Amino acid sequence: MSTTATGAAGESTAGSRASATSTAGIHAGWDAGADGHRALTPPIHTASAYAQTSHGALKQLFQRRADGFAYSRSGNPTTAVLEQRITALEHGIGAIAVASGQAATTIALCALAAPGGHVVASSRLYGGTTEFLDDTLADFGVTCTVADPWDLEAWEAAFTDRTRAAIVESIANPGAQLLDLDALTTIAHAHDVPVVVDSTLASPALYRPGDHGADVVVHSATKYLCGHGTTIAGLIVDTGRFDPRRCPERWPRLTTPNRRFGVTFADEYARGGSGLLGYARAKYVTDLGTTLSASSAQQILVGIETLDLRMRKVSADAAALASHLHGLEGVARVEHPTIPGRPDAPLADRDFPRGTSGVFSLELTGGEDAAAVFCDALSLWTIAVNLGDARSLVCHPSSTTHSHLTDAQREACGVRPGTVRLSVGLEDLEELRADLDQALAAASASIGAVTAAA
Ligand SMILES: Cc1ncc(COP(=O)(O)O)c(C=O)c1O
Repeated sequence: MSTTATGAAGESTAGSRASATSTAGIHAGWDAGADGHRALTPPIHTASAYAQTSHGALKQLFQRRADGFAYSRSGNPTTAVLEQRITALEHGIGAIAVASGQAATTIALCALAAPGGHVVASSRLYGGTTEFLDDTLADFGVTCTVADPWDLEAWEAAFTDRTRAAIVESIANPGAQLLDLDALTTIAHAHDVPVVVDSTLASPALYRPGDHGADVVVHSATKYLCGHGTTIAGLIVDTGRFDPRRCPERWPRLTTPNRRFGVTFADEYARGGSGLLGYARAKYVTDLGTTLSASSAQQILVGIETLDLRMRKVSADAAALASHLHGLEGVARVEHPTIPGRPDAPLADRDFPRGTSGVFSLELTGGEDAAAVFCDALSLWTIAVNLGDARSLVCHPSSTTHSHLTDAQREACGVRPGTVRLSVGLEDLEELRADLDQALAAASASIGAVTAAA
């Protein structure tokens, strides 16, 4: 495996791209034999700054003429290992680790579309992403058109001459809806627009967006990559498809000499690097200070070691629980690709042979009141707004993760008053099922009591 140090200035590629997920998840980016102490796992480098061999060496780093570390706000040796590992897992050409999934989305979209661009966004996105697009990104002068990714005509119609990026989720939160990424990227690329895929729920263990035309992949590493609910982190991966030199006038900040940094970022493509990531790191990560700490990077690296195993179990258990809950009294609907009638069932068979993650949702017939009784009655499932933890978690999206959206926005992503999101953890399947059954009985009884009283 490669041990090439990813410089703060350079966006180096990962070593072995051909490895299976389980192998790359343990080895990519780190070689104990090349470490001075032969540390088997990547050490946590907590230094804020790095001692330079000379005045000239530091000057070269600032002039982007050499790779290396100067100051940890732009990168450090531990986050560099994580960057190489995710690059290998996604078969990309480079990556940047940042402080949260939200930072990853923010930086990817700002680097492509700010200032003054236009973004086409899926109608089924994490609530925080929709809020960012609607509010903060709009403050930066970037407008957005929302389109249903299951409606290819609507998707096509959303693109304009100003469109600089499109964003979708490979598995949508919270209803686990899939999409035909090959079709969506073909349309976007016909407009010379790169597609950013938030692949948080899928993780590279289930799906590689780059194999389906994605240009940029973002992750909330907080979720499955971490796997234990210990760390907030985000990742941006360049899959190597986007090349701003094809439409240089659209991305002048990448394709013309940058006064501040003294380089033309797009030149990095000629060296096998990513001009987009070079620009994103030099400008946005450094200016906004959205760096991932070395300790957090190490937590994510440990989590990734078991990613492949975990994703198999949670995907199988979520499918089993979704099928069990479907049609039970008190359940209006279950949102999971395996439920009869879901239009994305053929996509699950075609593109997700290893499963669709541990996240799915159910809608209770009694609306928010029933959802509240259901959540409170659970004992093994914990009420928390996270997913991808080793523990099974439950939340009520319309009053939490999607609470700041309009009713129409919530409806478009399948979030209704009775919707409850489940994130299946690593506990025993039968015990999880029994807990859901007793909570459902409690919710149904409470609705029955209200109806009888009325
Ligand atoms: C699909 C998805 N993307 C992005 C995010 C934001 O990630 P973070 O909380 O790490 O900032 C979340 C958070 O729930 C998410 O579910």
